[in-house]
Amino acid sequence: MKAFRVHEHGGPEALREETLPDPAPAADEAVVEVRACALNHLDLWVRRGVPGHRFPLPITPGCDIAGVVAEVGSVVRNAKAGDRVVVAPGFGCGWCEACGDGDDNLCREYGIMGETRDGGYARYVRVPSRLLIPIPAGMAFEQIAAVPLTFLTAWHMLIGRCGLRAGDDVLVHAAGSGVGSAAVQIAKLCGARVWATASTEEKRAKARDLGADGAFGYEGFAEEVRKRTEKRGADIVFEHVGTATFEGSLKCLAKGGRVVTCGATTGADARFDLRAVFFKSLSILGSTMGSRGEVMRIVRLVGQGRLKPVVDRVLPLSEIRRAHELLEKREQFGKIVVVPEA
Ligand SMILES: NC(=O)c1ccc[n+]([C@@H]2O[C@H](COP(=O)([O-])OP(=O)(O)OC[C@H]3O[C@@H](n4cnc5c(N)ncnc54)[C@H](OP(=O)(O)O)[C@@H]3O)[C@@H](O)[C@H]2O)c1
Ligand SMILES: [Zn+2]
Repeated sequence: MKAFRVHEHGGPEALREETLPDPAPAADEAVVEVRACALNHLDLWVRRGVPGHRFPLPITPGCDIAGVVAEVGSVVRNAKAGDRVVVAPGFGCGWCEACGDGDDNLCREYGIMGETRDGGYARYVRVPSRLLIPIPAGMAFEQIAAVPLTFLTAWHMLIGRCGLRAGDDVLVHAAGSGVGSAAVQIAKLCGARVWATASTEEKRAKARDLGADGAFGYEGFAEEVRKRTEKRGADIVFEHVGTATFEGSLKCLAKGGRVVTCGATTGADARFDLRAVFFKSLSILGSTMGSRGEVMRIVRLVGQGRLKPVVDRVLPLSEIRRAHELLEKREQFGKIVVVPEA
């Protein structure tokens, strides 16, 4: 089969096209014929490398996979050849205390498709069978592939970590990002008032179309939030931009507010005044991924049309390098999806 793999970290050219043997499933795995794979910022980190972190190279990136089951291992009972499936992107060991509690993402052996084992930039991928989720009837592969990782991350941040409630004022940074476009919708679904940042007026208009009550640029966003919340500030700030926004994100919180972060796109150094943290009883929360059950709930809501995949464009897998460049240049709103050629 054809696959795009990373042997050494680098620019888009580090994605090398190769011919590999078709994979065979282990007893508790399925082999899925990939029909669509969505890109994530994670794919850029896997390709470029992250100082101090070791990825298992060579690796086939791609964590958001939808396709058709081609073959299942001998003990698999939850899927069969021909099933249309979307793949939950993360997996714990299944045996430890955290996994037993349903906190898969707190498992010490937690892994992600396309980061810790081969992912979806290929014609076929091996998948632990418990990650297979049936695709809602009538939904296209390119649409459902745009859902798992970003909606899971945003859901766990807002609901799992922040306890989002109806009436909360929520600031979502970068509504045009994968996680941001999911967060706007989840916060609206739960009855929040949603404010959004985005770099261009075109993206801000799309953020409003997605449901944001208002959208503005990054410059002076903290003042803008105070103005729009009758000077109260935001109950929740959805962070992932990092250094460029973090100080302002804390500044625009209401008393008792929480900032929740899953990323450091612009850098990992943050400055803030500790006195504001204690005087205003603020919480700074970290979050990574979430549980398999959360992905299943999200897929159900997508099937009901209450959450919508946001697909910026669909490209052939052969254009994966260009797809990475588009994401790096922030030209997308929502998700870029690639489709392997038959
Ligand atoms: N820990 C986890 O579980 C987890 C899960 C998912 C994502 N993440 C992290 O969260 C971040 C977002 O992920 P994603 O996949 O949603 O990313 P993405 O789709 O590539 O979007 C990144 C966004 O960053 C925004 N941005 C703002 N200032 C920027 C700047 N100065 N330079 C570059 N980009 C800037 C861009 O906003 P504009 O659209 O306004 O230009 C862009 O939309 C990444 O750092 C990712 O690694 C973490
Ligand atoms: Zn575990």
